[in-house]
This record gives sequence, structure tokens and C-alpha cells, in this order.
Amino acid sequence: MVFRLLFIAVLAFCANAYGGGPGDAERGREIFKHRGCPICHSIDRVGGTVGPDLTQVTVRRTDEGLVNWLKDPPSLLKDTDMPKVPWKEEQEIFDLIAYFKTFRREINRDFMGKVSKKEAGKRLIKEYDCRSCHRIIDPESGRDRFPELTHEGRKRDRAWLDRWLKDPQAVKPGTFMPAYPLSNEERVAIVEYLTTLK
Ligand code: HEC
Ligand code: HEC
Repeated sequence: MVFRLLFIAVLAFCANAYGGGPGDAERGREIFKHRGCPICHSIDRVGGTVGPDLTQVTVRRTDEGLVNWLKDPPSLLKDTDMPKVPWKEEQEIFDLIAYFKTFRREINRDFMGKVSKKEAGKRLIKEYDCRSCHRIIDPESGRDRFPELTHEGRKRDRAWLDRWLKDPQAVKPGTFMPAYPLSNEERVAIVEYLTTLK
């Protein structure tokens, strides 16, 4: 009984940590438009090209991370071009996150172990949509403000890339590069592919 109560208390705390109730995706869509977000952001590649494309944003960021970011971008990234929005209520942020989740594509890993490491890495980069920030070969991809990775294999070696993907914050505290929850196998494949980009 005591354990069960404790469990419920923990769950309640977690719900609070995310700031509350579920979002309304339809309201989120309206808020996105009326708050001027498409001036700088695309979703599914439709919209502005100042900030990252947001199609896979809920894959690379946690709900909690998104709440913190949307509340006050400059507190997390000094000199960001993303303005701090004077939200009427926190619910607007939950609605936006619900809206983002309607675009999210789950990561397909069916090819792992069936194709070469290099090919798997190439496909994973597509699945995770690293091109929402980085230009990688395709001239239409990425955003000018983020490093281009087309020749990444000339710039960095395997060991560096492996450390970077494992924990970007450990290599460069405060970096905006997301920490992806990659499995060892996935990380090895992506590193393999990146080292071939000469
Ligand atoms: C003036 C341009 C601008 C506007 C307007 C803007 N953003 Fe951004 N946003 C950015 C930039 C730029 C970044 C990336 C951080 C950086 O490099 O400064 C970003 C980052 C983000 C991120 C994190 C993206 C990621 O991939 O991790 C989210 C989420 C986001 N913005 C949502 C919004 C929402 C929602 C709105 C509307 C309320 C909005 N932005 C309005 C420029 C903008
Ligand atoms: C939300 C934007 C964003 C996304 C999405 C993103 N990155 Fe990054 N990445 C960055 C930023 C910002 C840097 C630069 C870090 C810095 O200097 O602070 C960076 C740096 C890098 C670098 C190091 C470049 C160098 O040599 O200095 C590599 C490699 C890299 N990213 C790989 C990836 C891969 C692989 C993915 C997808 C799994 C990915 N990134 C997704 C923002 C992003």
C-alpha cells in the first residue's frame, strides 16, 4: 500500500515536471500561425528557413526540454534569434508540443544489420532528420547558421565524432546540438557514414 502511494506520488511529480495537462494539437496549429513561428520555421519543409525545420523536433527534444526552450530561449542559448514569447498561459506551449507531435515520424531501424554500416548511418541521418539543421550534400538541406557536414570526414576523426554524438554537452557545454538517445550500434553507423564524407 505504502509502495503504491509512493508510486502515485512519483507519477504526479513527473506530470508536474512537464508542467501539466495534455495539449490540443488543433489549438497548437493556430498558435503556431498566429505567433508568427512560420516566419522562421518550417514543418515538413514548408515555412521559413532561419531556424531548424520542426518535423522531427519531438524526436530530438524531450517535452520538458521544449517547455524550457519555449518559455525563454535566450536563457538557454545566449544571442539566439528566437524571441521570447509573452505567453498568455503555459497551455499554449503544451498545445504547440501536441501540434509538433502530429508531424513526428517514428524512427525506422528495420535495415539495421541488413545493410553496410555506412549505408545504415546514411539512412539513420535521414530518419533522425539531421538535415533539419545541417546541410549534408543536398544543397537544399540544413540552415546557414549550423555547421555543414558535407565534408565532415576531413574535419573530424572517428574518435571525436563518437564522443560528440554520445554526449555533445560533455564536449562543448551549452551547445545547441541535441543529445540523441542513440544505441551503440546506431552511433557507430552514423560515425562510419560521417567519416566517408570527404
Ligand atoms: C526570428 C526567428 C524565429 C522565430 C519568429 C521563432 N523562432 Fe524558433 N528558433 C529560431 C532559431 C534561430 C532557433 C535555433 C536556435 C538558434 O540557433 O538561435 C529556433 C529554435 C526553435 C526550437 C528548437 C528547435 C530544435 O530543433 O531543437 C523550437 C521548438 C522553436 N524554435 C519553436 C518556435 C516557435 C513555437 C515559435 C513561435 C512561437 C518560434 N520558434 C519562433 C528562430 C525563430
Ligand atoms: C537542432 C539543430 C541540430 C540538429 C537537428 C542536429 N545538430 Fe548537429 N550540430 C548542431 C549545432 C548547433 C552544432 C554546432 C555545435 C557547436 O559548435 O556548438 C552541431 C554540430 C555537429 C557536429 C560537429 C561539427 C563539427 O565538426 O564541429 C556533428 C558531427 C553533428 N552536429 C552531427 C549531427 C548529426 C549526426 C545529427 C542527427 C543525428 C545532428 N547533428 C542533428 C545542431 C544540430
